[in-house]
Parts: sequence; C-alpha cells; structure tokens
Amino acid sequence: MFLDMLTDSGVNAMTTDQLAAMINAQDAYAGSRSFEELVSAVREVFGFEYVLPVHQGRAAEHLIARLFVKPGNIVVTNYHFTTTRAHIELLGGRMIEIPVPQALDTSSEYPFKGDIDLARLEEILSRDRDKVAFVRIEALTNLIGGQPVSMKNIKAVREICDRYKVPLVIDGSMIDWNIYLIKERELGSWRISDIIREFVGNADIFYMSNRKAGSVRGGIIATNNKNYYEKLSVLVPVYEGFLTYGGMSIKEIAALAIGLRELREEGLLGSEIELIRYGVEKLDKLGIPVVKPPGGLGIHIDALKFLRHLPRERYLAGSLAAAFYIISGVRTMERGALSSDRTPDGKEIFPDLELMRIALPRKTYLKSHIDYVVDRLAWLYENKEVIKGLEWVYEPPVLRFFLGRLRDINNWSTELAERYKRVFGDS
Ligand code: F0G
Repeated sequence: MFLDMLTDSGVNAMTTDQLAAMINAQDAYAGSRSFEELVSAVREVFGFEYVLPVHQGRAAEHLIARLFVKPGNIVVTNYHFTTTRAHIELLGGRMIEIPVPQALDTSSEYPFKGDIDLARLEEILSRDRDKVAFVRIEALTNLIGGQPVSMKNIKAVREICDRYKVPLVIDGSMIDWNIYLIKERELGSWRISDIIREFVGNADIFYMSNRKAGSVRGGIIATNNKNYYEKLSVLVPVYEGFLTYGGMSIKEIAALAIGLRELREEGLLGSEIELIRYGVEKLDKLGIPVVKPPGGLGIHIDALKFLRHLPRERYLAGSLAAAFYIISGVRTMERGALSSDRTPDGKEIFPDLELMRIALPRKTYLKSHIDYVVDRLAWLYENKEVIKGLEWVYEPPVLRFFLGRLRDINNWSTELAERYKRVFGDS
C-alpha cells in the first residue's frame, strides 16, 4: 500500500507534547493524576463538569443507547453513523435521518450540509414526542461527506429540544473540523476556543471518539447533567473499566488531555481542510464528480455519478475503492450500500449517497500526496467502464463492511490492471 487514506481514526499524527505526556502519565487502576488532567481539560475546553472515559466512540454510543433507548423508540438525527445505528437497533430502536435537503445533492454548494431539517424535527416531535429517545447531532457528519453543522442550527435544535423536553446528544468525534468550518463560514471574528464551548454547550450529553479529533485512542462521554452522569457511571465499570480509565490506557488519557487543549490552537487546526479543498477544486475542474463544498474528513467521490453505467446492486462505492486501490496503491473507504446492513427480511438498504472517501488523517499528508491522488483518479475516470461491480463471497449479518469479503464480477480487476500496465508500466 502506498498511501493509507482509509480513515482518520486512530492514525492521526500526535504532537510531541502528546507523546511527552504519555511518558509522564501516572498509571493507577483507580484515580490518577492523568485522569484529573483529563477532567480539567474537558472542563476548560468544552465546559463540561463530568467526564467518563470509554474504550472508543462506539462504546460511548452503546452506553448512551442503553441509557435512553427502549424497544420501539426513535432517535432523530442529522445523519446516522454505522456504529451509532447498530447500537440503537440492537436495543430495539430505530433512527430517523432528517438532514437538510441540500445535503443529499453532492453538487450543492450549501455551506452547512450537516444541518438538521428544523421543520421536520418539529413535525416529528409534535407527532411522536413520546417515542423519541433523544435527538442526535453529528458534528461533522461522516457518511454524507464530512459536512459541518452551523452554530445557528445547533442553537435552534437546542431550543426545540427544550420545548419538547427531549435530550440532545452531540457526537463530536470530528468537532475540530466542524469548528474550523464554522469559523470560516459563519463566525469569522470569534476565537476557536469560544466557538467550541458555545457549540458543544448545547448538548445534554456530548461524546466523541478520541481516535479522531483527540488524535489518540479511546472515547469520552461528557455532561453537566448529574443525573445522566450517575446513571452512565453505573454502566462504565460493567462494560468498560473503572471510572478513571474506562478501558483506555492511562497513557492515552494523558495524551488526550493535551490533544483536547490543542483543539483551541488556531495554528494547529485545519491543514487537512486546506488539502481537501485543494483536491476537491482540482477534481471538480477535471469534471470528476466530487462532494461539494469541500468539508472535513476527506475528499469524497460521488460513485453514483462516477459509475453511471452500473446498477446500485453492484456496490458502486466499494467497486470504485477497489479499482482505485489497484491502480494507485491508495487505500480508501466505501461509504455507501456496503456500509449499511440489510433489513431483517434481507432487503438491501440503499443509502442516500454512495461515496468513496479519501480520508485525510490529521497532520499526516502533504499537497504532493493529493496531486498523486488526483492524477490517478483522473486516469481511472477515463477508464471507468472497465469496472463491473462486486458480489459477496461472505456477508456477515451486522456491520458487514468490517468483515465481509467480495469479489470482482467477471474478473474485471485483471483487465483494469493490464490496461494500467500498458500505460504506466510495472511501477
Ligand atoms: N461517531 C462518528 C461520527 C465516527 O466517525 C465514528 C468512527 C464513531 C462515532 C465511532 O467511533 O471508531 O472510536 O468506535 N468513525 C471511524 C471512521 C470508524 O473511519 O470514520 P470509534
């Protein structure tokens, strides 16, 4: 593999201060100076009094779902994430996604495609308030192209949740990029540190995968609500670990305290967003279908438009990711039908978008890497008709994209590789 652009999760470069904090960490089963440092970082950076470490983001989702979701419940969200939905469904609930309509048009330049549709939220709550376990806002959205939520929108959601007395949960796994884009597109004169507190302060419960914005491993749940904190505290030792490590290593906890403080450093933030913008603009000029406007997380290719000659049953984003790997050595991620499991009666759920994600882990890649990606994608776009789709060899029942195996229909990968060799040689 030449470039690993599968994800930004757990593969971000750490700063020297984070690494140094790992050496200085104070390890203890119960209570440690390093945990106290994390608590004070969470208080300072986010403004939450209580913090619970967990082993990663999905563990936070598991516990939050256990706290709120009963069979028949609904969780309303701007957009689901794979693991979030799995935990809610395993407890007998379901998710309703109500992004603003522009979010599902990959060519729309709408600046806040992560916003939730407020009118629909109001409509659902006025009709089904009793079934709604909580409202969940993912900032930034993962499966619809790394798009931000505006301050205006989160405040309006808070106001609606207050009126209907529904808890508001914010998934801030990629809060750094969301905040950077708010500063760029909405609140230019504000300091990053103020935008963070103002944004996350709307949550009754805030959680994040530390593997992303935290640039370490693990996850946290944070809140100012003592009642939620106490209920979640009972679950943490059962499923994660004692309250002062929650399944994380103390070294990572020490590095996280630094990583959270670094979220406020304007000079450290946003280089990936600049690279994404650079790549998206280049690809757009070449006529290659890409999600606009450029957001965070990565460059997202619209596989529905890239592979117009194939039906959706052939798993377009997965096929594109496989083809791109063969001709570039760049590993990317499918964010489409493969990332959704089937309905209980075996039917495919075709999601709104079918994207190939070229992720930009934090502080890792340079402009020349983007030039290479663009160059190889341009070649693939000219040769796209060789791609014929994928079929299952082994399909697991839950989160099938993690462990499933697929093959290329009629062996098209061989033709693609041979075509590539004819142009570029063996290198
Ligand atoms: N929420 C969001 C928005 C995420 O992007 C992820 C993970 C999670 C929750 C779960 O966190 O992995 O620590 O358990 N996203 C990774 C990705 C897997 O590649 O986008 P986790």
